[in-house]
Amino acid sequence: MKEKTYYVCSNCGFKTTKWSGKCPNCGEWNTLKQEIQNKHKSHSLNIVKLDEIDLKETINYKTNYKQIDDFLGGGFVSGGVYLVAGSPGIGKSTLLLQLSKYLLENNHNVLYISAEESANQLSLKANRLNSKIQVLESNDLDEIVFALKQDYNIFIIDSIHTIYSSEVDSYVGSINQVRLCAQKLIETAKENNKTLIIVSHITKEGIIAGPKALEHLVDAVFYLESDEKFNHRLLRATKNRFASTEHVVIFQMTQNGLKIIEDEFLTYIEDATESEGKAIGAILEGSYLMFVEIQALCVRSPFGMPRRTSVGFDLNRLNMLLAVIEKRLGISSLEYDVYLNVIGGFKINNTLVDMAVAASIISSLKKIIIQKNYVFLGEIDLLGNIRKIKLPDVLRKKLNSSNIKLFLQENTPNVESLLKAILQGH
Ligand code: TYD
Ligand code: MG
Repeated sequence: MKEKTYYVCSNCGFKTTKWSGKCPNCGEWNTLKQEIQNKHKSHSLNIVKLDEIDLKETINYKTNYKQIDDFLGGGFVSGGVYLVAGSPGIGKSTLLLQLSKYLLENNHNVLYISAEESANQLSLKANRLNSKIQVLESNDLDEIVFALKQDYNIFIIDSIHTIYSSEVDSYVGSINQVRLCAQKLIETAKENNKTLIIVSHITKEGIIAGPKALEHLVDAVFYLESDEKFNHRLLRATKNRFASTEHVVIFQMTQNGLKIIEDEFLTYIEDATESEGKAIGAILEGSYLMFVEIQALCVRSPFGMPRRTSVGFDLNRLNMLLAVIEKRLGISSLEYDVYLNVIGGFKINNTLVDMAVAASIISSLKKIIIQKNYVFLGEIDLLGNIRKIKLPDVLRKKLNSSNIKLFLQENTPNVESLLKAILQGH
């Protein structure tokens, strides 16, 4: 058996066959540590026929909250390993305490392993959430591995960054610690057919020791994000071996934890009056439709070079849409200063609002008021065609029973039909 020596940086995880005092990757001193790898192990191969494998029974642990169970693809799967990532303070612990509570209420056995907050701190939170879950306060890897073999079905580890193994010679939270601890925990959970939910932080700077290093080890990766202005929290999946990643769950942070938003329409519109230059656009998030108000103001330019100003929407995209409107509809903005504003202080990085932006510009240039129940949803390409999107059935049903008239590719395939729609409603 051949042995190979290599060196691993305890700070960034960089691997090299040559030792040096300074890590060539991250520049830290004295962080390269020797590791030995057996080059060849055994030559006995264990090849099996897929249809002869004895499958472990998979169980779905439901929370009984429709949005969450749909998001999970029917519930947490036994033997499944989940990563829940998000920036500090976003509400990861709150979310997982709540999920534990829901699972417990549904008679699933959950153990919450708190490596970050003391049981005392956690109980303060749990009181606000009215939760009676069982908690193990530990950050010792061996102890947690032992716990994973006990008689619980679902384990939550909050967080992976504070777990420590004496096998690794680097500080808590370093990439080597995080990776080794995660590997051991995942291995144990898989062997024992337990559901494991691992909490991980992301930092605003580089994501050292963050979820990126763990994503390939787990079955599903969820991100908890916020839209700060409205205090919403979005749970989305970037990877899920057990379900599609198109669902999201939207919550409102309240005094008593995260409240699931059940209404498919999220409206950010404060003022429902009709006026020139105003159009309502929408963004599709899973089965939610979020409405945003777009305003355009086009005024005659006193200078030879007209100004284009955009707040909350990409200026290059605005210029592109102005060019498409001119070329396809013959509506010129050449002699106009154009100001575009997304109401509410939002920054919208989503091409689905293209149609609403175009509509608001047409409305301002042609002095046409758009009806207030019109909502536009679609990306416009350089040829002036609207791109097709798939609207979830729940939304379709909800739209049918509302007074909203939604314009999207299927009824408004291009900018010509968009202009026609605006004129007809006028
Ligand atoms: P927390 O779950 O501790 O965040 P993370 O685990 O991602 O670091 O939540 C932190 C914030 O949530 C904190 O600012 C307090 C707030 N919060 C509420 O607003 N309502 C609640 O019921 C709870 C438990 C927390
Ligand atoms: Mg926390």
